[in-house]
Parts: sequence; C-alpha cells; structure tokens
Amino acid sequence: MRGLSLVAWLLFVSPTLAQDFTGHGGPVGALDVAGDRLISGSFDTRAILWDLGSSSARNVTRLHDGNVTAVSFLPDGGFVTAGQDGRIAIWQPDGRAPDMVTPPGVAAIASLAVSPDGMRVAAGLWDGQVQVLERETGLLQSHQAHRERVTGLAFFQSGDLVSVGGDLRLVRWGAAFTPQASADLPDLPNGLAISEERVAVIFAEGALRLFSPEAELLPERFLTDRPLVSVSAHGGDLAAAAIDGTVWLLRSSDLFQRAVFQAAEGPVWALALDESQVFTAGAEATIRRWSLADGSPVGDAPEAVAPDYRDDSRGFEVWQACAVCHSLQPGDHARAGPSLHGIFGQPIASQPGYDYSEALRDLDLIWTPQTVAELFEYGPEAYTPGSRMPEQLIANPTDREALVAFMARAIAATPLEP
Ligand code: HEC
Repeated sequence: MRGLSLVAWLLFVSPTLAQDFTGHGGPVGALDVAGDRLISGSFDTRAILWDLGSSSARNVTRLHDGNVTAVSFLPDGGFVTAGQDGRIAIWQPDGRAPDMVTPPGVAAIASLAVSPDGMRVAAGLWDGQVQVLERETGLLQSHQAHRERVTGLAFFQSGDLVSVGGDLRLVRWGAAFTPQASADLPDLPNGLAISEERVAVIFAEGALRLFSPEAELLPERFLTDRPLVSVSAHGGDLAAAAIDGTVWLLRSSDLFQRAVFQAAEGPVWALALDESQVFTAGAEATIRRWSLADGSPVGDAPEAVAPDYRDDSRGFEVWQACAVCHSLQPGDHARAGPSLHGIFGQPIASQPGYDYSEALRDLDLIWTPQTVAELFEYGPEAYTPGSRMPEQLIANPTDREALVAFMARAIAATPLEP
C-alpha cells in the first residue's frame, strides 16, 4: 500500500500566505479543528498538527502505510489518526509515537468519530464494518454495520452512534450496538455530520438532507448537480463541499444558505469549522481558511511565521515554505522540525534537544549546502527514506542554490548561544 507513488506529487515550493497551511506533500483528505489547533491527514502518509495563530506546524506524525484518511481531536487535546492501512492511532499533542495503535485492519478506514466523553473512538471501514475502540481498556470491537463502505459516522450527545453506508442505509446504533432507528436513502451518501442533534447527510447527486435522531427526513436541499464530497458542522453551522471545489455555508436548522464560494479548482475532500472560520483541503497539498460569515479568505498577515532573519533574496522566499516547520535560531524546536541552525558540516539528526525519527537517526550523512540541495532535488522520501518530513521537491536548481545560500547567510548572522 505504501506504493502510492509519492514521486507523483511533484511539489513546487512557493512562498506561504497566512491564509494557507503549507507543508503536506500531497492531497489532504482529512481535517479537524479544536481551539487554536488544526489537524490534517494526507496522502503523503503524514498527519500534521498546526498552530492556528502562526500557521506553523507543531508536530508531524508518520505511522500509517498509505494515506491518512481520517483525523479527529480528542477532548483532552490529543488526537486520533486513521489510515488506508486500517489502523487507528491515539496521539498526545507532541507525541512522536502513538500512545495506542490498533493492528493493521482488514480494510481501509473511511471515517472516524470520537464520543462526546472522548473515551470511545469509532471507525467506519471500506468493507462496511464499524470498529469501536475503548480507550481505557484498549478493547476493539467490530460490527458489521453496513453491507458496503461506511461513508459517514458520528456520535450523538447521548453516546449513540449514527452511520451511513454504500448500502444506502442510515442507522442509529444504541448501547451494545443495537439498531435504534434506520432509514433507506434515495442515493449514495458520501458523508455525514451532526449539527444540534440533526444528522446532515451529503449525497452523490448533490443533495444535502437532514434527518432527526429517529431517522426521519427533515428539510432537504439540492445544492448542485455535482457530487457532494465533504461535510462538517460546528454548533448550528454547516458546510458542504462539492467535487468541483464549491463550498456552501448553511444554517443547519432550515438549511438557509449563508454563503457559497469557490475554495479550489478540484475536489474539497475535507472541511473543518470553528466559531468563525472554515478550513478546506483537497487535491492541492495546501489547506486554506475562510470566514464562516461570508466565505471570504481569512488571513492577511504578511508572513505566516515571523522570520529569524530576512533579506530580499529569492532564497528568503524559497525558505518561507521551510519556515512553517523549521527555525534558524539555535535550539528553537518549537515548530514540527528541528532548528537548522549550524546545519552545514553537521551529521544528520544531531541537533541537540530534538527528538528525531529512528529512520533519520539510522542514516549516515553530513549536511552541506550540496546535500541539503540534493535533499530537495530528489525529495526527502528518496533521499532520507522514512523521514517524517513530508515529501517536497524544489524543481529549479537556481532556487535550490538560492535556498542554501540564504540558509548559510541566516545562520552566519545568528550567533550561537554562549
Ligand atoms: C511540514 C513540516 C516540514 C517542512 C515544510 C519542512 N521540513 Fe524539514 N523536517 C521536518 C521534520 C519533522 C524533520 C525531522 C524528520 C525526522 O525526524 O524524521 C525535518 C528534517 C529536516 C532536515 C534534517 C535535519 C537534521 O538535523 O538532520 C533538513 C536539512 C530539513 N528538514 C530541511 C528543510 C528545508 C530546507 C525545508 C524547506 C525547503 C524543509 N525542511 C521543510 C519537517 C518539515
């Protein structure tokens, strides 16, 4: 499954806008937001934990074989990732390795939900099963909930689960996973979200339908004739997105349309909402944010991350894509990657105080302007296999030279701590 040819995602590093979260090396298919943090899961096999204020990456996790298909925050600040490999992993915010991980599954995981008390994690699989993980005991139970892929899953406040599947069924599950209510669906459901105890289901035919907890059809609305591919809710707000990149912002009580905007050229595979913002991600590796009030782009700060050192060179511009994850100040490992101060002449994985992956620690390499340039000529995946750093290439040799020359200037300008 790791075969997902990452080389196919030839990324061209470009300067970062504060509206954007740039760091993944492939399409992003999963998002969640809570407080001042965003979590994303990507085809690049990584999950990234982001700081909303600075748009910088705080943790990059790499565990899953194949893409990270679903992510969710836990009420205690940790998060859950699930993948094409069928595994569910529970992480601390700054965890390098998961606290708990389930064995490789029989099928890929398509959807994920966390119970309101944070103690149960449910995963919907491609083969129609729902797995429920009890965090306290580590017990994992499987239920054949649908005959085909489980496309959407969520918990009600009561702790009951609701799921929709490729068998065109919506089912509410009670304690001991007994069905409490169900409905036959008129078309293929592509996802669901719960908003104020109403179940919002999106369909391949472009409709959004609301259901009561008793599985009765409430208002429905045909948004488009294109497939809707993602849906998310926060309080009484709903967002749904189509395969052509259109996003609708709706009031969930009556499906009144607040705004509609174009978030991308291609599909928006993932959406997340908080009180004031909506985050979108899809075929482009970049995650964007928009105003929940009117769908306008959010973020006009000139730089996502305050630079340690700047000049008006091309190298500084290229460096902006690195700065979301790397500082050039000695010992500053507050972003997801190590500080790169003093990197030239140093062996790989030797910044004091940074917890490198085993893959990087096992490699034998000295960083020089030439090897750092080669790292982005061939990409971290090929040059430092197993690295947590997401795949990214700098295609243009002049840009690679400008980057390493800028790094050398910035390092020389910053004295080492006494
Ligand atoms: C999304 C976050 C992210 C981005 C963007 C990123 N890196 Fe990294 N980088 C990391 C992480 C995480 C590591 C540590 C990898 C590990 O431990 O496996 C790393 C490691 C490195 C290393 C090896 C450091 C050492 O001490 O051996 C270098 C060099 C490096 N990155 C350079 C860059 C440059 C230059 C850019 C921009 C072109 C960049 N990185 C962009 C996250 C990132």
